[in-house]
Amino acid sequence: MNERSGMILTSRLAVAVLAALLIAGCEMPTGKDTEQLGYRGTGMEAVINTRSEAELRAANQVPAPQPPVEPAGPLASELYENVEVLGDLTLTEFNRLMNAMTEWVSPEEGCNYCHVPGNFADENIYTKIVSRRMLEMTKTINEQWPTHVGETGVTCYTCHQGEPVPEYLWFEERGGPRQAGGMAASRRGQNLASPNVGSSSLPSDPFTPFLLGDEEIRSIPTTMLPEGSNPRNIMDTEWTYGLMMHFSESLGVNCTFCHNTRSFMSWDGSPPQRTTAWHGIRMVRELNVDYLDPLQPVYPDEQLGPHGDAPKAHCGTCHQGVNKPLYGVSMLADYPELDKVRRVARATISPAAEPAVASAQVEDQVEDE
Ligand code: HEC
Ligand code: HEC
Ligand code: HEC
Ligand code: HEC
Repeated sequence: MNERSGMILTSRLAVAVLAALLIAGCEMPTGKDTEQLGYRGTGMEAVINTRSEAELRAANQVPAPQPPVEPAGPLASELYENVEVLGDLTLTEFNRLMNAMTEWVSPEEGCNYCHVPGNFADENIYTKIVSRRMLEMTKTINEQWPTHVGETGVTCYTCHQGEPVPEYLWFEERGGPRQAGGMAASRRGQNLASPNVGSSSLPSDPFTPFLLGDEEIRSIPTTMLPEGSNPRNIMDTEWTYGLMMHFSESLGVNCTFCHNTRSFMSWDGSPPQRTTAWHGIRMVRELNVDYLDPLQPVYPDEQLGPHGDAPKAHCGTCHQGVNKPLYGVSMLADYPELDKVRRVARATISPAAEPAVASAQVEDQVEDE
């Protein structure tokens, strides 16, 4: 072998090694699936990574329900000292729900995560005050927002998944519109490659204006002349896109899950999921404005954000990377206590479960059995 061919060989080897190194950093093209969502030819398809899909499925399994109980015993309102939300549950239902809440929120810490040891009635523990509000919030979601959560509904587990602090939540960020200088403040919270917005350089806190505030999300002009017709400029539009990246990331979907990209504006061409999302935006605003943000004074400082605000919810808090939280499995069906309508329905099927039944009667029944 002469010197020249030796050099060629070495450089070829170097190229091969370099290429191998580069490719090692890429994902193999296998393990991808596509599913057609829209009309044929519209390119409205979902790209599914079968490997991360398996991980996601494993992470979003629902626990087995608590063993069912017959409603029996006196009502919690008569039995206990400080029940403001669950007063209409019977003793057995109340205990079952406490067990479930422990499993959903604080399986490691147990009852005492929310209770002062030895005194369940004691109110001097912030986690109890927070979870009472959480109970009310969960009921509101199930009772008032069928336009979003449908028949599936939610329980504490949807957000908490066995952790006292849900994995996905948000705080206000510097440069957000609430800061002095408003939306015009210098960096506008941009160019941070934030995971909030799919690591794009879009404004990284689209939550404050759109999911706490009710600023206009739509930004495409509907008339020919820009003057007067559209108060939102291109920079404002970037906030809209930041929010849209968050939608896609939280649900693990492409833009075409909710839009026919021929026109992002048109509702006629959009799949029904966009309407569900529209209601979802309004629902999340209510959760943040009425329930989560006002809990600020209740939390200890270490639970608050860098700017002193309470932890809040966005789409990812429930969805956690999946188009329907927990893959659409309804846990609520096993916990009618968290939805007035279901509770009434159950009472009509089995008369013994009539919630209005006087506790004396229930006690008689229990004794008869
Ligand atoms: C995630 C928080 C949380 C966990 C965990 C929890 N509880 Fe509770 N508990 C509450 C809240 C909130 C109330 C008040 C409900 C209301 O206002 O309607 C309450 C009330 C009670 C009461 C009524 C006390 C009174 O006299 O007012 C009892 C009894 C009780 N819980 C027992 C338990 C038991 C037993 C466990 C463990 C198996 C448990 N709880 C776990 C949040 C929790
Ligand atoms: C829509 C999502 C969502 C649902 C549903 C939900 N939570 Fe929460 N929860 C949150 C968020 C967000 C926080 C704030 C996390 C923090 O405290 O830092 C929170 C905080 C809490 C905390 C305080 C934890 C701590 O250590 O600061 C408790 C306790 C709690 N939730 C109990 C419950 C119970 C019980 C239910 C069901 C009745 C429930 N949650 C339902 C989102 C939810
Ligand atoms: C989960 C559903 C969903 C996903 C995914 C989604 N969008 Fe949207 N999009 C909506 C909804 C709902 C609105 C209207 C919001 C409103 O009116 O409050 C909207 C509005 C818009 C608008 C403004 C339209 C107008 O009339 O001005 C644009 C632009 C847009 N989306 C682009 C995108 C892009 C780009 C992506 C992907 C990165 C995306 N969307 C992903 C639901 C979605
Ligand atoms: C409180 C929990 C919760 C929050 C927060 C939440 N969702 Fe949902 N979402 C659900 C549930 C539950 C379903 C399933 C409803 C069903 O089975 O019909 C759902 C369904 C959807 C669907 C329909 C999916 C499909 O496959 O048809 C879309 C789209 C959606 N959500 C978008 C959003 C967007 C966008 C946000 C944030 C603005 C959001 N969701 C916030 C609970 C939530």
